[in-house]
Amino acid sequence: MTEQRVVVVTGGASGIGEGIVRRFAGAGDRICILDINAGRGAAIATELGPDVTFHQVDTSDRAGLEATAEAIGRVDVLVPCAGLLQNAVRVLDMDLEEAERLLRINYLAVLSTCQVFGRMMKAQGAGAIVTIASLTSTRASAQVAYNATKASVMSLTESMAAELGQYGIRVNAVAPGYTLTPAMQARIDSGERDPTAIVEASALKKWVTPEDVANAVYFLCSDQACVITGVTLPIDAGWLAYTAFDAYAAKPPPE
Ligand SMILES: NC(=O)c1ccc[n+]([C@@H]2O[C@H](COP(=O)([O-])OP(=O)(O)OC[C@H]3O[C@@H](n4cnc5c(N)ncnc54)[C@H](O)[C@@H]3O)[C@@H](O)[C@H]2O)c1
Repeated sequence: MTEQRVVVVTGGASGIGEGIVRRFAGAGDRICILDINAGRGAAIATELGPDVTFHQVDTSDRAGLEATAEAIGRVDVLVPCAGLLQNAVRVLDMDLEEAERLLRINYLAVLSTCQVFGRMMKAQGAGAIVTIASLTSTRASAQVAYNATKASVMSLTESMAAELGQYGIRVNAVAPGYTLTPAMQARIDSGERDPTAIVEASALKKWVTPEDVANAVYFLCSDQACVITGVTLPIDAGWLAYTAFDAYAAKPPPE
């Protein structure tokens, strides 16, 4: 039997983070959910049993993160998944306070989380980190501030991979495509996202699920990925390939 790993997942009380919690818990690891949503986080921990604990913490609160890390004591896998989505806005109208809030949670808090738990991994001489980037890390979209935060997360991932490899720490990112989570469902319900257009823009004509993202994260943290570091892996049902293909002027004739 392989040794039980300690897996820290921020934003683990919903959506992609919850899928990651369930994937690692199902494999017998010890999971620490860090989230601001106490009701949901505690309920998931209770449902999954004693190897899953909930810690209420805001990832933008450095002192709270440090106290939580000290209480946990060890970390083998870190997934800093806590983040906020954004609705479409014109660049010329982007509110700077909102841009600052997105930058604080989606980038600075991810950096801070990686610093706190990365130091523990360095002391241990091993670890795996998987950050959550996005298709907007590399593509334009009308989520003006969100794009910048996710491009920053991808860049940070590469810098961390380069710097921390010498300590036995691997750092990769996943870039989920449109993933059906509570945050995404809320935007569909409010008319901010068109579910038909989303599915049509993918090569596979389907949504990504939190489980799909979780399976990729699990692989990247496994020994099977022992020489993979510094990559950003799209989990997008073929959205990147299809949208480029579909936009190109040369098209095969209709069947
Ligand atoms: N849903 C998508 O299509 C999609 C695509 C690409 C990337 N992502 C990224 O995946 C991550 C999760 O998105 P989701 O759709 O699952 O969202 P979600 O809202 O369903 O889940 C996010 C979780 O993060 C928690 N959280 C938010 N701010 C926090 C903070 N400051 N401290 C601690 N916890 C906090 C929330 O309470 C919630 O439990 C985000 O980083 C998002 O940018 C989502």
